[in-house]
Amino acid sequence: MLYSEKVMDHFQNPRNVGKIDDADGVGEVGNAVCGDIMKVYIKVDCGIITDVKFNTFGCGSAIAASSMATEMIKGKKISEALELTNKAVVEALGGLPAHKVHCSVLAEEAVRAAVNDYYARRGETPPA
Ligand code: FES
Repeated sequence: MLYSEKVMDHFQNPRNVGKIDDADGVGEVGNAVCGDIMKVYIKVDCGIITDVKFNTFGCGSAIAASSMATEMIKGKKISEALELTNKAVVEALGGLPAHKVHCSVLAEEAVRAAVNDYYARRGETPPA
């Protein structure tokens, strides 16, 4: 089978879909080749990501990757979210076909963009 059960599950029942109106950080990224767009919103309290939502206009793998990525950073320290790699997302999803790995890269980039936006709004520099 091309897609793992986890990918199918997160595609069919994506977690954390939506938007946070009073988000503390928002990140939007796109892939110029496939045209898919991903937007991630985070709410942060005392350095902890207390809520996270996403909107993805994209393929099934991009939706599954965003769903998994948001689950992986929820409840984590904001600095830990910066360490989320697309590789970790792919592993958590039980793998992605090679030509779909870029969908997980989009998820990593969207999370990083939201976290960087959080730091920027506070006038802080993200940890290197
Ligand atoms: Fe581009 Fe999936 S095909 S994000």
